[in-house]
Amino acid sequence: MMSDIDLQKLPRHIAVIMDGNGRWAQQHAMGRISGHKKGAEAVRTTVRACREIGIKVLTLYAFSTENWLRPEHEVNALMRLLEEYLHSELRELLETGIRLTTIGDTEALKEPIKSTLQETMAKTAHNRDMTLNLALSYGGRDEIIAAFKKMVLDVHAGKLSLHGISKDIFPDYLYTAGLPDPDLLIRTSGEYRISNFLLWQSAYTEFYFTDVLWPDFNRDELFKAIAEYQRRERRFGLTSDQIQKDQRA
Ligand code: FPP
Repeated sequence: MMSDIDLQKLPRHIAVIMDGNGRWAQQHAMGRISGHKKGAEAVRTTVRACREIGIKVLTLYAFSTENWLRPEHEVNALMRLLEEYLHSELRELLETGIRLTTIGDTEALKEPIKSTLQETMAKTAHNRDMTLNLALSYGGRDEIIAAFKKMVLDVHAGKLSLHGISKDIFPDYLYTAGLPDPDLLIRTSGEYRISNFLLWQSAYTEFYFTDVLWPDFNRDELFKAIAEYQRRERRFGLTSDQIQKDQRA
């Protein structure tokens, strides 16, 4: 319930691995695409709930690099659902101050989704209340390699020195440049894996796993995850005493 969470101590950035659409469909004796459709509804609900309570960044793992290997009709259906989502939500994104961004190898996407994404990003670029960040054709290892290549190019171009390379500047080369690291990562459907998602960025992230299948995820499930996050103590490698002293200061 919303009353179970402290609105003063919200995670700034929530990332979600939306898993279990296929199993949900199977349980309801439906085809996999119906599961994804219901999954898109859960996306709507989750984005609204995050906006309502004041989450600043929501990253959703909508399509991984590995997902390209799924049957063509399923890949097409996922792209169509995304397209529909962007068209149906544009007005609400604008009205509620949500900026759309993407991470991943979005060059690999086809038309019309590529243009729709570009347009939606351009139209919402000025929004400041929340960032809805969609991971599309995303793979964490690919992201790290792409960042590394960009860094080497900068070294060659004389824009960056070998000594200038550090863990503090590396994030500027990742797809997530400019976004804070996720504070909370939620994975649905009872799988306990990171599946190549935000590998660099999740170094200190709190993980929350639930058996709920993504199409059944809703406001209350989101608030449960946030409440659990708020019960945890994040130490970033320090001792409990150090953290408590920090909070008193
Ligand atoms: C995992 O379920 C989910 C996906 C691969 C895609 C996520 C896509 C959506 C929620 C719908 C469209 C997205 C947006 C942003 C509108 P699975 O198919 O792997 O489930 P399974 O493991 O039970 O088979």
